Amino acid sequence: MPKAPGMLLLFFCLVGAVDALHKQWIPDTNYENKTNWDKGAVPCGNDRVQFPAQRKVSVFVNTMHAVQEMWLPVDGEFILNSGAGFYVVSGQDPGCGAGVVTQFKDSESLQWFNPALWQAAATLDDLQRGKVLFSVHEESVPCQYDDVVFKEHSSFRVDTSSHQSSIPVKSVSVLGKKFEGNSEFSQYLSSRSGQLQFHGSSAVTVGNPECGDPTGCDCGNSANHQQICSTVTCASLSCEKPLLPVGHCCDMCGAIVTIRYAAGFNLETYRQRIHHLFLTLPQYKSLQLGMSKVFKSQRLMGIVPFGASPEIQVVIVDGEKGIQSEGLAKDILKDVSSHGSNLGITEAKFQASTGGSTGPPGGIVGMWVGIVFGVLILITLITIMVVLIQRGVLRMPSSLPLSLPSLSSLRRRSDVGELGGPLDHGFDNPIFDRPNMLPDIPGVYGTETNRSISMTQTGVHFVNPVYDENETDFNA
Ligand SMILES: *[C@@H]1O[C@H](CO)[C@@H](O)[C@H](O)[C@H]1NC(C)=O
Repeated sequence: MPKAPGMLLLFFCLVGAVDALHKQWIPDTNYENKTNWDKGAVPCGNDRVQFPAQRKVSVFVNTMHAVQEMWLPVDGEFILNSGAGFYVVSGQDPGCGAGVVTQFKDSESLQWFNPALWQAAATLDDLQRGKVLFSVHEESVPCQYDDVVFKEHSSFRVDTSSHQSSIPVKSVSVLGKKFEGNSEFSQYLSSRSGQLQFHGSSAVTVGNPECGDPTGCDCGNSANHQQICSTVTCASLSCEKPLLPVGHCCDMCGAIVTIRYAAGFNLETYRQRIHHLFLTLPQYKSLQLGMSKVFKSQRLMGIVPFGASPEIQVVIVDGEKGIQSEGLAKDILKDVSSHGSNLGITEAKFQASTGGSTGPPGGIVGMWVGIVFGVLILITLITIMVVLIQRGVLRMPSSLPLSLPSLSSLRRRSDVGELGGPLDHGFDNPIFDRPNMLPDIPGVYGTETNRSISMTQTGVHFVNPVYDENETDFNA
């Protein structure tokens, strides 16, 4: 198959691609970081250094420091790099100012579930070079398949409190040591350093399997959505039609491309393709792009929700009005229409905050489902009418007064259904929250759906016959 030179280059970029992302905790409790001191500067030889007595802290010290005086906390530690330490200057340190009392700042309230405190990258190398990826808020916090990184030559203090007892991740690296097995890591957590670095009600557990699905995995943080968003303050926006991506806490200006995929799609490959083909272009330099698998609730005729299906969400964030992001969304769609079948993409559409989009959500398929559904309801209503009239329960309009008692008996019957209480569901399907939306035909939502929809913890999956066809195509 003839391929453009760009494709060849792309192939080499992909060797060594990994599925899990690395999420790095940004703050540190390092002696040398001036943001950790209340005076905004690392103390020098004339300064008196204070660590508040009751504050638990693990402080990493990289080099040698002169101090005038130092108050230590009751419970804390210094992790000294080789060659690091403290000494007291006799007399005045000429390189230091008048000498002040300076306090080490509080890092007690820094929460694991605060998306602003993490940065993501595809590899460790990218993290070190500052090649970080944009993600929606839920995915900024480590996902269950991610490698969590605390900077080498750094210490930290993180509050892991949440309403769950554990926070599963694939691995955790602390001080350059990578923990992949949970017994080893829980041993570390109970150590002196571990207890000073991690505090809070939930325990971080490592050893979660990596995402085995090349088409990507759902982050798994939607259960923590409220906690994550409680730390986020949304900016006011100036674009015409702000959009809310799945997993994000705030409306944003930009564009959202939604991609449906088949077997053969590879999320990491596609992420790199988009970065390589488009984000390097000068006109798109200022854009941020995040790409992940999400479960988006599906709506019948755009109104009635009926579960969730996996799709690839590409979020493009644009500073101002969202004009550039619409251009990028269109470029991505163009790329899909010419290479989509090779990439395993079956459908792509977009919405932009400039107002541009590829038609109403749901598109042609949604419209046809709506029409078929409507006709079904109509036929059923007519059938019920005919049966009622035949049984003499309903009369024709000429004898209207006589039909009134039978109408109330009809109402009583539906009351019985409502008195039966909410249906027992076990998973969060908004449709069950609105009993009135359920039609009186069990066949539509009951038996038929059971055949094609399976429910798991992560959502509702549809068995799509298209996948099987493409699978054989790809193997051929
Ligand atoms: C110092 O701490 C701040 C805030 O926690 C962080 O953003 C910055 O990267 C740190 N500086 C260094 C040199 O690590």
